[in-house]
Formats: sequence, C-alpha cells, structure tokens
Amino acid sequence: MSTNQLDKKSNAWSALFSEPMSDLVKRYTSSVFFDKRLWQADIAGSLAHAEMLAAQGIIGAEDHACIVRGMTQIRTEIESGQFEWKLELEDVHLNIEARLTQLVGDAGKRLHTGRSRNDQVATDVRLWLRDEMDLIGDLLVELQKSLLDVAEKNVEVILPGFTHLQVAQPVSFGHHMLAYVEMFSRDAERFEEVRRRTNRLPLGAAALAGTSFPLDRERVARKLGMVDAQGQPQVCQNSLDAVSDRDFAIEFTAAAALCMVHISRMSEELILWMSQNFGFIKIADRFTTGSSIMPQKKNPDVPELARGKTGRVVGHLMGLITLMKGQPLAYNKDNQEDKEPLFDTVDTLKNTLRIFSEMVGGQLNAASGQKEGGMTVNSQPMEAAALRGYATATDLADYLVKKGLPFRDAHEVVAHAVKAATSHQVDLSELPLSVLQEFNPTIEKDVYEVLSLRGSLHARTTLGGTAPAQVRIQLARHRVRLG
Ligand code: ARG
Repeated sequence: MSTNQLDKKSNAWSALFSEPMSDLVKRYTSSVFFDKRLWQADIAGSLAHAEMLAAQGIIGAEDHACIVRGMTQIRTEIESGQFEWKLELEDVHLNIEARLTQLVGDAGKRLHTGRSRNDQVATDVRLWLRDEMDLIGDLLVELQKSLLDVAEKNVEVILPGFTHLQVAQPVSFGHHMLAYVEMFSRDAERFEEVRRRTNRLPLGAAALAGTSFPLDRERVARKLGMVDAQGQPQVCQNSLDAVSDRDFAIEFTAAAALCMVHISRMSEELILWMSQNFGFIKIADRFTTGSSIMPQKKNPDVPELARGKTGRVVGHLMGLITLMKGQPLAYNKDNQEDKEPLFDTVDTLKNTLRIFSEMVGGQLNAASGQKEGGMTVNSQPMEAAALRGYATATDLADYLVKKGLPFRDAHEVVAHAVKAATSHQVDLSELPLSVLQEFNPTIEKDVYEVLSLRGSLHARTTLGGTAPAQVRIQLARHRVRLG
C-alpha cells in the first residue's frame, strides 16, 4: 500500500482494485473519529518500533532521525488541534503515517517495515488501556480514602444493619462504610491483575505470522514499559493470538462492570438513606437537583445516574464478549468495534469514581487543608430506626445461651418476648425485669446492658465484626495499606 496514494484520496489500496469505495462504505468502515483518541499510544508505539528498526540496522540512522522529527511535529499539531484528521484515511494509524510521509518523505514510508496495522492496533489499545488502568487505580485509592474519612468519624454511630431490608442487628456506620472499602480494594486488585496481562507487546506479530525482518521485540517492550515487576520485557508469545484476541479488553470491562455494580449498590443505599423515610444522611446540594413542579424536592440525581450507568457498562461487557465470539484466527475487522465500548467504559468509570470521592468525602479546601462538603451523617434517626426494629433480640438470645439455654430454645423464648414488646409498642429494653423473667427466670438486671444498642454493638468483637474496637483495627489496616 502506498500512503501517497491514500493521501491523494484515490480511495484505492493498490492496483488490484477496480473501483473506489462508496461514500457510505467509507463512513461505515472508518474509525478515525473515535480511534484518534489512541494517538499518543500510536506515536509511542511507532517511535519504539523505529528506534528498534534502526538499532537492528533495518532502517538507517538518518531515517530514524527523520521519523522522530516528523512525529515530534505531528504531536504538536495534534495537541494544538491543527492536525487534520481525514475520514478517507480510515483510522488513527493511517492518518498519522500519511502525515509523517508528507513531512519526511521516504523515511515515513519505511516506518511500517516489519509491522502491520494488526499488531499496531493491538499494541495501541493495550498501551492506552494500561495507562487508563493506572489512573483508575489512583481514583480507587481516592474513593477508599474518602470512605475511610467518613468511617473514622462515625465508628460509634449506630444504624440498623439490615437483612432482607428488615432491621437485623445494630451496626457501626463506620463498619458499614468499610464494607465498601473492602469492595473497592478488591476492584483495585482486579485492575492490577488485568494490567499485568494487558501490559504485553503484540508488535512483531506483524499481520499474523511474524516477519522475516530481524526484529528485537524485547527491546520494543522495554522501551514501552511493557515489563514485569522484575523489569523483564513482556512479549506476546504467539503471533496469531497477539493480533486477534481482545480478552484483556473483555476482562478489563468485566472488572469495570463489577466496580460499577459496587458503586450501584452504594448508590441504592445513599438514595434510600437520604429519602424522608430514612433521613440518615444528606449529600451536598451540588449533587442533587430540584423538581420543575414540586418546589420541596431535592433529588439524588448523581447516585441514581450512577446506578443507571452501571447498566451501560454491563452492556459494554456483553458487547465486547459477544464481539469476540465466533472470530476465527487471526485478525478480523470485527475487532475495530472494541474501541467505543472500551472508551465509554473508561470514561464512565473514571467520572463516576471522581464524583463519588467528592460526594462522600468532600472537596479539599486549599486554605484550610481540610475536606469540606462531603456526606453528612445524621446519627439520631439512625439510632431511632435501630430501636424500632428489635435489633438487639439476638443479643437477648445470646445472653440466655450464656446462662445455659440451648440456642434454639433461647431463640423461641426471645420470639415470645418480642411479641409481648410489640403488643405494648415498646422496645425489649423497655420491658420491666419482672416481665422479662416471666419468659425465663435466669434473666437478671445485667440484661439491660445487653439489650442496649451500644452493648450489642460493642459485644460483636469477632475479627471483622462491628464492635468499634474491631472497626478501629480495620481502619488502621486500611490506612497503612492506602498510604
Ligand atoms: N482500525 C483497525 C482496528 O481498529 C486497525 C487494524 C486494521 N487492520 C486491517 N487489516 N484492516 O482494528
């Protein structure tokens, strides 16, 4: 193929073709208006390839110098918005290569020696995604730190823990926040794993079978930072696989979808908690909107949208995994369809993580060095809600077990006590000792400590339990982990 030919908009790949592409087909097959986003990776990949070609004596030092000079100018043109992206040049790769040849002549035409767009695009997407995953990792650290800040301030605040959305047992609000820290820390681990498998070099696979030129693939890998933790170059070991599989993109999107599912679960809770029926929290006004008809409304648009956008990312996962299904080896044009879902997944996830960090933890005030405007926690309605639901019933059963009753019998005794308290519309702790003793004579005055929300909370000292002492241990562990 001659890039000069392309540049003249002849729309023909070679003498082989008897007619140009129709305009409709051109628009259908062109990807430049979305894949131009890969330009930095494309230039980095080309520079590493050119440097290696020169080191191996495949192109001359002069040609290499011309390529570097041309790419430097192209970078400036793209950054300043002067670069003219052309639909008829199909994609980011051909656009940049054509401009290079325009700028530096034959040296530009030599760049593609021992390379194909097939291994080029696979490399670009991997490089781009690797760097995006690093940014996502940073955003996940920020979000976890925001959650830690809220957790730290609310270790002793009690809310009803739910199962089946029915009041179950008293729980520390700090503990509840740390549950999300656990989820996001696993998400971060998943991205690190995916990063390791993404950060491997396809270049050198050429179109599908490798090339007859004496390439040094490991040199290119090192240049592009495609190395493992020990600094060893990471190179795809099968040329057919290297150009064709997009499993790294699929597993990235799977990790992103899961992360969004965690965000969505949290959103659902924030939405419930800020409703009038709960009144547990407030989020800053800048994350809410009013209603055009009901003047009293403040709607939790941000968590609702995040819950909605989770569907979109899950959809991208379905799109990508279906894209791969049924593709024979090696490269097929189907793979051009990987980009839009991947780009949108990255954008959606990054924006969501950013906004959630701020919505939960607040915004840094440069003057005071403090974060301001994060989530407000209303402890009073939380405790009141815990008191309404007999949240300490299990504690009474445990108390009876410690007095010698088998657990199943204790469970039955407490069911009767709860029934009596319900009919008098009081909490268990409000039943007089004499009434409690009617249910079981071993009950003594010390039961009231057990029946209090605080007593119940502080008793759950198992590793990973909700007792404030445990929550503080976990907080300290996370602080060390996140630095
Ligand atoms: N734009 C193409 C893609 O995204 C680049 C590779 C094209 N290769 C080819 N043989 N048509 O996959």
